[in-house]
Amino acid sequence: MKIVTLIGARPQIIKAAALSRAIKNKFSDKVREVIVHTGQHYDANMSQVFIDELSIPEPNYNLNIGSGSHGVQTAGMITGVEEILLREKPDYLVLYGDTNSTLAGTIAASKIHVPIVHIEAGLRSFNKSMPEEINRIMADHASTLLFSPTETGLRNLIHEGFDKDNQPPFTADHPGIFHCGDVMYDNSLYFREIAEEKSNILKTQLLEGKPFFLATVHRDNNTDQPERLNAIFEAFLEISQESQTTLLLPLHPRTAKLLDKNLDSRLYQQLQQEENIRLIPPVSFLDMIMLESRCEMVFTDSGGVQKEAYFFEKPAIILRTETEWKEIVEQGCGIVVNADKKKIMGAFDHFSHAGKEIQFPPLFGDGKAAEFIAETMLGS
Ligand code: UD1
Ligand code: UDP
Repeated sequence: MKIVTLIGARPQIIKAAALSRAIKNKFSDKVREVIVHTGQHYDANMSQVFIDELSIPEPNYNLNIGSGSHGVQTAGMITGVEEILLREKPDYLVLYGDTNSTLAGTIAASKIHVPIVHIEAGLRSFNKSMPEEINRIMADHASTLLFSPTETGLRNLIHEGFDKDNQPPFTADHPGIFHCGDVMYDNSLYFREIAEEKSNILKTQLLEGKPFFLATVHRDNNTDQPERLNAIFEAFLEISQESQTTLLLPLHPRTAKLLDKNLDSRLYQQLQQEENIRLIPPVSFLDMIMLESRCEMVFTDSGGVQKEAYFFEKPAIILRTETEWKEIVEQGCGIVVNADKKKIMGAFDHFSHAGKEIQFPPLFGDGKAAEFIAETMLGS
């Protein structure tokens, strides 16, 4: 079997490591993987660092699309992916998640009848103002094999008309849907010991043995709306000052570029002067999971980071209006606070007192999601 794997944004590069590893370790005689990078993310610390650190094979193609409006970016990718699919003639195009790279792959492949495998299928925020919600619905409804990390995801697909009893041979009109666990969980389990060995981040940030909070912010409706961005950072400032605890923020380049423009100048200055607020460039995956495993609490609007907080048994304060990972909230391990300073402070207060008693039962599979995906592709 020949597959083309499409990656582009940071979390997709990370997710792809799990399937590449499963193919290398168990299926190398049966599956050949061609990797295509759209170039949606391109800074070394948003892309190459993961390819190197997570032993992902060097991409066979890079479209070097870069940044742009949704239309410009997606259109460029569609053209490039179509050309490669026509040349490579794969059995499947493998897509991850919900980015513009995912959407471009969906359109390119479905029009020329290359069957699509969608990993992280079925997730819904039920908020179509998110670009990701449109991207993931389009990908799911054009796919032949859909792998959902959660039961909720599988239920969402059934609710949208997918039949869980479909049997092979699968096609886009007769798709197979599966609940298989989360490839990100596979990765967190696999890399946690390697991170303990190789990551220096606690040392370089002088955080060894010290309590600290970890935060990430990159969602467009937070970065691009000054009111929301100000509320979030006001809360961060207050929390770090009141608790006299370091709040470490590896900043996505989107956010880094907009802080100066969208934050009130006084707040921006206070953030820069506050020694407990630490704004740093994006970190590598091994550093990130090291931080997640040692921090007290996570503040994030990231899909991946709220889940990894759960994997490492840390409470997550979710800076969004809703979440696709509703199990985390139902379990009492995450609180959705929007960009509302009062709610952020309330959730912080709650977890400061209740944080240690929370239970984190396994919800995201057994660490073998990627093997299941490879086996299912081969049997399809
Ligand atoms: C994208 C995804 C989002 C995902 C996120 C993961 C879409 C619509 N959004 O959002 O779902 O959660 O990736 O991180 O696909 N930039 C750089 N260097 C880079 C990459 C980006 O400076 O290497 C800056 C550029 O100014 C760019 C901005 O970040 O315009 C946004 O990048 P883009 O890829 O369009 O969207 P993300 O916000 O990263
Ligand atoms: N991540 C990382 N370094 C960072 C921030 C995030 O390695 O500085 C990893 C994180 O561990 C997770 C993934 O990037 O695996 C999440 O990506 P992101 O938050 O960019 O996107 P989302 O998951 O929201 O789509």
